Formats: sequence, C-alpha cells, structure tokens
Amino acid sequence: MLNKKMQDAFNEQMKNEFYSAYLYMAMAGYFQSEDLPGFASWMRVQALEEMTHGEKFFNFSCDTGGRTELLPIDGPPNNFKSPAEAFAHGLKHEKFVTDRINKLMDMAIKDKDHAAQIFLQWFVTEQVEEEASFSLILKKLKRVEGDGRGLLMIDQELGQRVFLPPGPAA
Ligand code: FEO
Repeated sequence: MLNKKMQDAFNEQMKNEFYSAYLYMAMAGYFQSEDLPGFASWMRVQALEEMTHGEKFFNFSCDTGGRTELLPIDGPPNNFKSPAEAFAHGLKHEKFVTDRINKLMDMAIKDKDHAAQIFLQWFVTEQVEEEASFSLILKKLKRVEGDGRGLLMIDQELGQRVFLPPGPAA
C-alpha cells in the first residue's frame, strides 16, 4: 500500500493525466473549428489515451488498498494562434508530465516501494514517446509554415491515427 505522501502524489498525478485528456479535447475543438479534421482526430485519440493513463493511477491505488481522491481540474486553454502554437503547448505540457513522473519515481525509490517503481516504469517509457510525437509534429509544422498544402498533407497523415488501448503492464 502507498504511504500517505505517495498516495497524495498519485492522486495529484491522476489529476494531471485527466487534465491532459481535457487539454487535448480542447485542442481537438480548436482544430475542428479550423477545418483540420485530421488534427482534431489525432487530438481525440490523444485524449482517449490520457484517460487510460489516469485510469492506470486509479487502478493501482485501488489494487494496492489505497484511497483514490479525484481532485478539481483547471480549465484548459481553448484557443491557439496556430497549429504550431497548439503543439508547442502540448510539448511543454508533456515535459511537465515527464517531470512529475520522474519525481514520483524518485519518491518510490526513496521509499523502497518496489511495486510503485515497477508501475511507474511504464510511464517513464511512455513519456519518452509522448514528447517525441509532439516534438516531431511540431517540427513538421514549423517546416510547412505558411504552406497551406503542406498543412493539409499533415492533416491527412494525422487523421490515420487510431486509438489502441495501452498494454496491461500497469
Ligand atoms: Fe499521460 Fe501525455 O502523458
């Protein structure tokens, strides 16, 4: 079972993951309003993934006899100056999440909580992918800046993404 400090930190991270879903749904709404359905679809898939991340924290707390607490979630930004600004915001947010996950891992190591360390390992790996995908799309957007045709090509590409439930590792 998580100690009190860890349980509070896990509840806080569960909130961060659910906030991520809220943020990416807000971005989906922005892209929809910009007539970029592929970008909007990519963000909807991203939001679904984030819901599963929050659920992983929920399940781990339950499975280890802890007490979940759903904390208030702030409103996300709904408007962006450009697709690149939205992805830059997303990348910044993912870096924040990575930092939080690393701090949780530091706590688990200090507490010699092996189960929490194994659980968090999945998120350490996942965050490498999360930052890489936002970073790559941001680079592409910067490359096609001012080129409407290039933007539509990226929109088509992003529209291919489908939601795949994450593995059962945690
Ligand atoms: Fe669940 Fe995008 O971090």
